[in-house]
Amino acid sequence: MDKIIIHGGRRLKGEVQVSGAKNSALPLLFATLLASGKHRVANVPHLRDINTVEKLLRILGADVVRENGSFAVDASEIRSVEAPYDLVRTMRASVLVLGPLLARLGHARVSLPGGCAIGARPIGLHLKGLEAMGAKIALDHGYVEARAKRLQGARIYFDLPTVGGTENLMMAAALAKGTTVLENAAREPEILELAEALNKMGARVEGAGSDTVVIEGVDELRPMDHAVMPDRIEAGTFMVAAAITRGDVLIAGVIPDHLEALISKLKEAGAEILEGERGLRVKGPRKIGSVNIKTNPHPGFPTDMQAQFMALMTLGAGTSIITENVFENRFMHVCELQRMGADIVIEGHTATVKGVKGLLGAPVMATDLRASASLILAGLAADNTTEVSRIYHLDRGYERIEDKLRGLGASIERVKEPM
Ligand code: UD1
Repeated sequence: MDKIIIHGGRRLKGEVQVSGAKNSALPLLFATLLASGKHRVANVPHLRDINTVEKLLRILGADVVRENGSFAVDASEIRSVEAPYDLVRTMRASVLVLGPLLARLGHARVSLPGGCAIGARPIGLHLKGLEAMGAKIALDHGYVEARAKRLQGARIYFDLPTVGGTENLMMAAALAKGTTVLENAAREPEILELAEALNKMGARVEGAGSDTVVIEGVDELRPMDHAVMPDRIEAGTFMVAAAITRGDVLIAGVIPDHLEALISKLKEAGAEILEGERGLRVKGPRKIGSVNIKTNPHPGFPTDMQAQFMALMTLGAGTSIITENVFENRFMHVCELQRMGADIVIEGHTATVKGVKGLLGAPVMATDLRASASLILAGLAADNTTEVSRIYHLDRGYERIEDKLRGLGASIERVKEPM
């Protein structure tokens, strides 16, 4: 297994280009299942999760050609309606095939994802919504089996604003009979982008980006030609990298509107953030201010930036209270940060981070995608050498992160570990 070795203490400087958004590319690629013909999805990042989608689309019978970050998908002929356990296990977002397959073919079988490092993450709200649209849902040997002659529009209220649930239901409703209203829908930028792409395909989706999305079903959709937006979480991770190393980095391609909560918290921590035509320039503070954050659904502070922001707060001048409101059990990075000298106490879903003078490099282990990023950030600021193992988590969501950081002056390399 590969590991990443970082010699910390260098200030990052220069310019880095943000890749296409993983969490947008995933639903967009699954949306290709809704229409026959040749779709084109461009600016798709090169990541393990994307390889998983490619595999899954092929298993279902789609023809996929991948060239320089651009996907040509032809899903005219669907051979199978089953997302197998092996793939769903490595990527929970595989459940997003449920809506499109059910809407287009009236049948889908998707393995239940099971537990994962950041809490139970159930899909009950996806299923409840599909049932409200007339689907018959059964559990069969660890699989969800969903059937419907033709989905019917319905009024669906989400108990929680679920991102995946909103996406699955939007895709299902696009081909349903009648109008679907999703209330308390998630408002993440990825939802808005999916709605735009669906509308390019001939769907009638309105209100995406607000908490009420109205979808008027149509009989048929056409293929899309769409380029994926920049990854706000990758951009945010580089912003924190600039701040934690007291560097000066231009993050090119980022859309500032997607990161308002993070920008405001980084400014509060003393970073200087300048908005230019090409992106955001982040200058790290000399003294890092300790600030409190609470994660919440968009436009709140993103849970996907909590671990990285915590790495920054370990070096704050005072005490920071970090509250995780979206996922249970999303403090797996804390033990590893403590091994590097961080002073963090967890109580329930709150972490109290007392800033320390410096972090010390150590061998640490990645436990999930964003936790890995947080350890890399801590390693960039720490004295001596940090070795991050189990970095396959990192490769699920960050494109060439070590190359990009090296380009900014970091001393970071990937080495192969004997199996
Ligand atoms: C997506 C993102 C993930 C991000 C998360 C929250 C993708 C591929 N992943 O995940 O990176 O961290 O949004 O911003 O886009 N819940 C239920 N029942 C359900 C569905 C969700 O209780 O049926 C709960 C979850 O356990 C969680 C909360 O709702 O506590 C939010 O989850 P959700 O928004 O669905 O996250 P994902 O779509 O899985």
